Amino acid sequence: MSSDITATAAWRKLHDHHAGLADRHLREFFADDPARGHELTVQVADLRIDYSKHRVTRETLDLLVELAHTAELEQRRDAMFGGEHINTSEDRAVGHWALREPADRRIILDGADAGADVHEVLRRMGEFTDALRSGAWVGATGERIETVVNIGIGGSDLGPAMVYLALRHYADAGISARFVSNVDPADLVSTLDGLNPATTLFIVASKTFSTLETLTNATAARRWLTAALGDDAVAKHFVAVSTHAQRVADFGIDTANMFGFWDWVGGRYSVDSAIGLSVMAVIGKERFAELLDGMHRVDEHFRTTPLAENGPALLGLLGVWYSNFFGAQSRAVLPYSNDLARFPAYLQQLTMESNGKSVRADGSPVTTSTGEIFWGEPGTNGQHAFYQLLHQGTRLVPADFIGFARPTDDLPTIDGTGSMHDILMSNLFAQTKVLAFGKTAEEITAEGTDPKLVPHKVMPGNRPSTAILAPQLTPSVLGQLIALYEHQVFTEGAIWGIDSFDQWGVELGKKQALAVEPLLTSAEDPEPQGDSSTDALIRWYRSHR
Ligand code: F6P
Repeated sequence: MSSDITATAAWRKLHDHHAGLADRHLREFFADDPARGHELTVQVADLRIDYSKHRVTRETLDLLVELAHTAELEQRRDAMFGGEHINTSEDRAVGHWALREPADRRIILDGADAGADVHEVLRRMGEFTDALRSGAWVGATGERIETVVNIGIGGSDLGPAMVYLALRHYADAGISARFVSNVDPADLVSTLDGLNPATTLFIVASKTFSTLETLTNATAARRWLTAALGDDAVAKHFVAVSTHAQRVADFGIDTANMFGFWDWVGGRYSVDSAIGLSVMAVIGKERFAELLDGMHRVDEHFRTTPLAENGPALLGLLGVWYSNFFGAQSRAVLPYSNDLARFPAYLQQLTMESNGKSVRADGSPVTTSTGEIFWGEPGTNGQHAFYQLLHQGTRLVPADFIGFARPTDDLPTIDGTGSMHDILMSNLFAQTKVLAFGKTAEEITAEGTDPKLVPHKVMPGNRPSTAILAPQLTPSVLGQLIALYEHQVFTEGAIWGIDSFDQWGVELGKKQALAVEPLLTSAEDPEPQGDSSTDALIRWYRSHR
């Protein structure tokens, strides 16, 4: 549907309903409905998702589901899984889900056998990474590869960098990975520091193979390599991941060493394509297959589960609830897992590049806010930094807490009898409790607190959170988490009626940078740029560089 969702009866009902409960407290919600703590949960594959600490009643949830029906969420979902060109502004199918379908399922996208193509690339990736891992593939001097350096940016960096860190326990072949993305030379220089060219393999990862940052870094990396090992070494030390074979060949990488994907995979949805090659090199094709299987399990859940029990759909609807009815601006993602340190950054691209749009798919302006601002840090670090604002600030920041029953690492506590992981998780549970229920002035006074301090110590509570728990951070569970958020983003985009799969907003800045660059060093005075601020900045830079 392309009509304005805010003009529908379902939206108006939610608006009226919100007016009736906006001032009610989570304490009341739990008092009125004591079973909600275990009933407002949903199991999505291995993920136990508790959404009971949200400022909703069961009626709210019914109304949100009605909104989803009105926005034809299920039809849009089926259109995606049916290969329709739901990325309308780029006239493309949206097929990241096809990257994790089992080999025996026939999938046709744009008239081609996408299922067969995907599994052929996976087979080649497996063959190549097996050779790297076994030492059959050696560098120009005959030494085995010890480090893969992924050169890419955005979706060609954040996904593999996040997964590599998250699954560091699964590295089992003596290969480590590093990631270079920024055109700031400090990134490449610091990443190459200490590496031996003879044992280093570069993966140049770029969907378009035209991204300035990536081609600049790849060229600089090639100079670093050839200065040490000569030009012929490139064949054994550079491979590419791209949709664009000609540009890969033009860069000087043999297309026999290129791993392809397709324009129906968006960059921010591509970690499970050949873009994950660096991860596969480190953890092996079997563990990589488990990551894909975890994603597929959530795809199946999203595709087949009625909306009222559909985890990604519910979480997307709650995002809409806070963004559009409570006016929340942002969502905090708080993994109680150090290994997920890059997960918030990964989600920033996934969610904000997808849903940061001001027009609907048909080009008409949106009439409500879109695109939650995602941010976060691992707990407990965040607790000692920004949680003060979450607890007592004036802004409403819904938060996603992510935690695991079993740790990837554990150590004894101070007295040697307990587990540090238990301390970590007790913090997660405590934080969601305090955010939701707070502490009243009466409770604080009853503790004998100096009356002057009481207002400072009041914890208002009523701050919503989701708790996402899983047994352990395995490849499959990580895949589940990724797909959970992908489909939340889809749900929000469907409600807002926007194209969640284009990213026109990043283009103009790239063009402007190309136009400005020669002005920084030109012999003549630079051409005026049409505004006095940019002119002054350029002049200052020229006189100080
Ligand atoms: O500039 C945004 C973007 O196009 C992202 O969508 C993409 O993930 C990134 O640049 C990198 O693009 P590429 O993989 O083509 O180098």
